[in-house]
Amino acid sequence: MCVLITLAENVRNLLPYLNCPECAAELAVQTDSLKCSKCAQEYPIHDGIPVFTGGLENVQDIEQKERDSISSRQSVATALDEVSRHHFMPQLEKEAHAVLGKSGNQPIIDLGCGWAWPWLTAPGQSPVICIDFSLDSLLLAKKLLEQAGKRGVYLVCASAEKLPLQADSCYGLWSVQVLQHLQPPLLDKTLSEIERVLVSGGPILIRWLNYSLSYRLSCLLRRTPSEKERISPYYLKRLTASEYYRILAPRFDDVRIGRDELLFQPSLRMTHRSRTIGYLDRTLSSLPGLGTSFCNQLVGRAKNR
Ligand SMILES: C[S@@+](CC[C@H](N)C(=O)[O-])C[C@H]1O[C@@H](n2cnc3c(N)ncnc32)[C@H](O)[C@@H]1O
Ligand SMILES: [Zn+2]
Repeated sequence: MCVLITLAENVRNLLPYLNCPECAAELAVQTDSLKCSKCAQEYPIHDGIPVFTGGLENVQDIEQKERDSISSRQSVATALDEVSRHHFMPQLEKEAHAVLGKSGNQPIIDLGCGWAWPWLTAPGQSPVICIDFSLDSLLLAKKLLEQAGKRGVYLVCASAEKLPLQADSCYGLWSVQVLQHLQPPLLDKTLSEIERVLVSGGPILIRWLNYSLSYRLSCLLRRTPSEKERISPYYLKRLTASEYYRILAPRFDDVRIGRDELLFQPSLRMTHRSRTIGYLDRTLSSLPGLGTSFCNQLVGRAKNR
């Protein structure tokens, strides 16, 4: 008997790029899951989103639960206001769209996409594969994308160190404040996964919080919990620019570490939404001594080997 399965648009568009994260074999479509054609592992499809996190031993359990809990309580109406308290959105949108702009029809990845907000305003319909291990964050992203009528953005629930993507299947990668939450073994695995799934020469842009003088001062003044205290509720490692360079350089080509958000420091309760201040911020952030000491974020750019 022939069974006709109507696939959610999200899964249909993702299928050409997916494979089993365990054994890299093809996935067969079932009624409401994907099943590996080799190891027979099944991956559920939840509200149109394929979920690959099931069998994982999750050392980031506390973080995953917290991200789920925050996102399930967040309303669509106020989500972008919430984002603007943590990011200078115009700058990040511009940067994300620039990576997408060069990709042609090959997808780019937003790793640890959270609510996938930079893609709500992306021009055109070039494919973006948004990956996060928090299903509730992706469900919120789905609502935001639907509300904006945005197509071409595909959601996958998976963990960064075990991507359900075929080798050389994606063009580039953009990731904001995600790898800083991965402890060394997971970080290594994730960097290997990035190398594996991107084409050679593909652009990589990864933002990571700076271990800046202003951060250290704010810890001293107790406005920010110190590194040690941050281990709970979950791991967060800030880096200096040279530490960050030493992580990326052995694996990728053309590594450059930039800085920004000198005037946008949520941990010091210093935020703004002004493009003029944003311009001033970028100018001041590029000044060597000032940038290194006080910027909130490091911007790592590289090319896949
Ligand atoms: C600080 S938030 C940043 C979210 C988004 N990139 C943004 O800038 O708004 C970190 C995100 O990474 C996700 N994340 C953390 N570790 C992950 C992992 N191992 N695999 C997949 N996602 C992860 C979290 O669920 C969360 O959505
Ligand atoms: Zn398999």
